[in-house]
Amino acid sequence: MFEDSVDPAMLRHHGDVDARPGMLDFAVNVQGLAPPAWLRERLAARLTDLGRYPGADDDRTARAAVATRHARTPDEVLLLAGAAEGFALLPRLRPRLAAVIHPSFTEPELALREAGVPVTRVLLERPYTMDPALVPDAADLVVVGNPTNPTSILHPAATLHALRRPGRLLVIDEAFADAVAGVGEPESLAGIAAPDVLVLRSLTKTWALAGLRCGYALGAPEVLARLAHGRPHWPLGTLQLEAVTATAEPAAVAESRRYAARIATDRAAMIERLAALGLDVHTPATGPFLLLRVPDGPLLRKRLADRCIAVRRADTFPGLGPDHLRLAVRGPAEVDRLVAALGEALW
Ligand SMILES: Cc1ncc(COP(=O)(O)O)c(C=O)c1O
Repeated sequence: MFEDSVDPAMLRHHGDVDARPGMLDFAVNVQGLAPPAWLRERLAARLTDLGRYPGADDDRTARAAVATRHARTPDEVLLLAGAAEGFALLPRLRPRLAAVIHPSFTEPELALREAGVPVTRVLLERPYTMDPALVPDAADLVVVGNPTNPTSILHPAATLHALRRPGRLLVIDEAFADAVAGVGEPESLAGIAAPDVLVLRSLTKTWALAGLRCGYALGAPEVLARLAHGRPHWPLGTLQLEAVTATAEPAAVAESRRYAARIATDRAAMIERLAALGLDVHTPATGPFLLLRVPDGPLLRKRLADRCIAVRRADTFPGLGPDHLRLAVRGPAEVDRLVAALGEALW
């Protein structure tokens, strides 16, 4: 199901490929280099349990913790090996036509196409505001990221609700929702129990757990049952289950809210400094990354790489081109280095 205009290699490109070891990494959006010490200790404490299969009690505990965190019931929680597994399970719902809103993370489109699901792209123009009328009525599955990678746009919950139609499932990729500052998690639909809304969440970014593969889906029990049908037994390991439980606990959620506030402060400072260099930074930005448009993207990327700084090419996102770059929000010391390098690299 790949038309000539769709290049699977571009859809599979991720920021980790743009960052070589030793580079200052603005390409990957994971916070920090490793999970916090308390979380590493929680995981380490379970190493001695690895001789046993993950227990049903671990699964129950993790689902109960997630349910409490989002004011849902445990049967509305499906634990996943990362949000990416959630995308890979979507074809089991047998959609007739999936609409993916772009520019956005490309894994959902790739997973659907690889499974032979017909996919239509809905391309939003700058400023990337959602127009529900652009989504064909025939689409019975709609995938949207909120906040959206790479535009850093946060669609209002009311606009997301406007995408709902009888017979359609709305899938919201909230992999970065816990990085949005504000009261609760602004515009998140994680707490909405509706038969036609499926929310995917990830532990990867905020908890620097990219290597463990943890996430979950929140949705109606019937939808989750269809997603899970045919999955191997013990789909998540003991450490993954422990990580899900630990990061859903109130102290962890409070910590994630503090991260989000820090990201907002860092982001505002970073926007100001990049704008002072005359760079076109897309705003408003709400995620832990910024979308830039620069005069000669490939050359600037190369000049930054020569100075050991990695930024994410953004031309692999449908709707964007070679002059778009995505930069992770980083703290003042890293931004100092970036700005110094940009001062040399820009002509
Ligand atoms: C928007 C978005 N959704 C989902 C994912 C995948 O998350 P996970 O690591 O939980 O599979 C990513 C990873 O880059 C992402 O950027």
